[in-house]
Amino acid sequence: MNCEERTHYCGELNKKNLNQEVVLLGWVRRQRDLGSLIFVDLRDRSGIVQLVFSEEKNPKEYAVAKRLRSEYVIGIKGKVLSRGEKDKNPYISTGEIEVLVSQIEIFSESETPPFPIEDDAIINEELKLEYRYLDLRRPVQSQRIQQRHKLLQIVREHLSKEGFLEIETPFLTRSTPEGARDFLVPSRLRAGNFYALPQSPQLFKQLCMVAGFDKYFQVVRCFRDEDLRADRQPEFTQIDIEMSFPTENAVMTMAEKLLENIFKEFSFEATFPVPKISYKEAMEKYGTDKPDLRFALELKTLNDLVKDCNFGVFRSALENGESIRGIAVPPGYPISRKEHSNLEEIVKPFGAKGVIIISRADGKPVGSLVKHLGEDLANSILNFLDVKDGGSALIVAAPYSISCASLSALRLYFGKALKLCESSKNSLLWVHRFPAFEWSMEESRWVSCHHPFTMIREEDIPFLEQEPGRIEALAYDIVLNGSEIGGGSIRIHREELQRKIFKALGFTEEEALQKFGFLLKAFKFGVPPHGGIAFGLDRLAMILMGCESIRDVIPFPKTTSGLCLMTSSPSEVDERQLKELKLKIDKEKN
Ligand code: AMO
Repeated sequence: MNCEERTHYCGELNKKNLNQEVVLLGWVRRQRDLGSLIFVDLRDRSGIVQLVFSEEKNPKEYAVAKRLRSEYVIGIKGKVLSRGEKDKNPYISTGEIEVLVSQIEIFSESETPPFPIEDDAIINEELKLEYRYLDLRRPVQSQRIQQRHKLLQIVREHLSKEGFLEIETPFLTRSTPEGARDFLVPSRLRAGNFYALPQSPQLFKQLCMVAGFDKYFQVVRCFRDEDLRADRQPEFTQIDIEMSFPTENAVMTMAEKLLENIFKEFSFEATFPVPKISYKEAMEKYGTDKPDLRFALELKTLNDLVKDCNFGVFRSALENGESIRGIAVPPGYPISRKEHSNLEEIVKPFGAKGVIIISRADGKPVGSLVKHLGEDLANSILNFLDVKDGGSALIVAAPYSISCASLSALRLYFGKALKLCESSKNSLLWVHRFPAFEWSMEESRWVSCHHPFTMIREEDIPFLEQEPGRIEALAYDIVLNGSEIGGGSIRIHREELQRKIFKALGFTEEEALQKFGFLLKAFKFGVPPHGGIAFGLDRLAMILMGCESIRDVIPFPKTTSGLCLMTSSPSEVDERQLKELKLKIDKEKN
């Protein structure tokens, strides 16, 4: 038996196939020996079907079936029969039928797998990754990879229909700064020199515009050596898109059309057109540039309200130019002393010293600080934050960026604790008008918030030399349920402006030429205005499929420390290979 003879996938069979002769190929999920009958669940990527071996009708096949164990690979020929009324299984699509086997071939046997190949099995994460091919056999995991395939097909078909060309760009290339560290690849032919794996194909897609391919896309692997989290991998896939002669609006409309199509095919509900919010407003209202708008819990600034009070914490915060901001926790979540310290643990990593809590009970402000603030002011704060009876105000006094990060974390905490995200609709949001530059304490220089090729507002150009901090970029992110699923910008297409930006970022003329000379050279030969976006395909897939981790939707992912447990990489290499590359490992410093 072979694939040419296969008539169906297991999961496709149902009552419509009654009395048909079928050939199936797959894995034994389990074998149950009931005396004169043996039942076998056969699994392939489409699902599971029950096979029956009868001692009376097919003694030879029955004898082979006695030997079958879980995960043996077999092929069978048989007839589709209806199951008796009491034997029907309403939980699987093939539950009304079974296949009476008249021929069987065992292709290979299997050792007992290290974990059960079942959806509900509780499996150690590392073991799963070590035996990823077995994990991928589990129906839930197999379906995710098949759904990913569907997502890729929709993207390719949609963008091709819209006139975008899929163009591949090199993996062995120069470093493109996107804010993370590069993975380097040593060159043998030019020993001592290195390629960098692309953090994104940013410059190549811009060069595609210079080349005249006015609509480009690529489903492309990107590599970033950064600290990993549940929604980050060192290699991940982008849907990378670039257009010539666009406005910011044109890129957004194009991106929304793509998302709308994907969501329709995945029966994932969201509202279009997608609302826009400026970076400044996002920070002011939600304390983050990727707010989860499935719930409100907006931040409010209390500086004006408390400016005349004598409460030491507020007074010294205001004297130091800090912000006093708060959120209202709805009734039904009384905050005990233990919970208070828990909330303080949430904000401390961001640099906040603590959380001030004022609750409202029977219409009155309560909490240890009420006596310091006075009942009137405490009441005004509760009213201003719109704290209902039985609810609480959480207040953080800290420098603006710390108050943003702390209150955003508290907002998310309560969004989860009060299950505010689960009940409501998915939320899509554009965040735009980002600052172009931010000051890096580490490097003591201005760095790009997006990347150095991002266009700035024309009217802000005069501030490049003196006040880079006040310049706005034509950059935008798209956020789904609090996760940044894509980001892009309109690019600089004028050589002299690009040079000025490099200068503002602290590159000398020579450094700029050495790093980006090829781009500046191209900019001398007729460059169309251009811009684009890149979606994180894995993040998008993770949300569409309701997964907790990006690893669930990546066929062969790495651990959070960047290891592939299946192949044991990264690994040491032969002395010979190092010699060819003229590399020496400093073992002492390792
Ligand atoms: P950016 O750096 O915002 O933009 O990346 C685009 C999107 O890629 C996803 N992403 C990741 N997904 C998984 N693991 C990671 N380590 C990871 N890093 C990023 C995010 C993000 O929104 N060149 C620009 C795009 C452009 O300007 O057109 C870029 O790469 O979902």
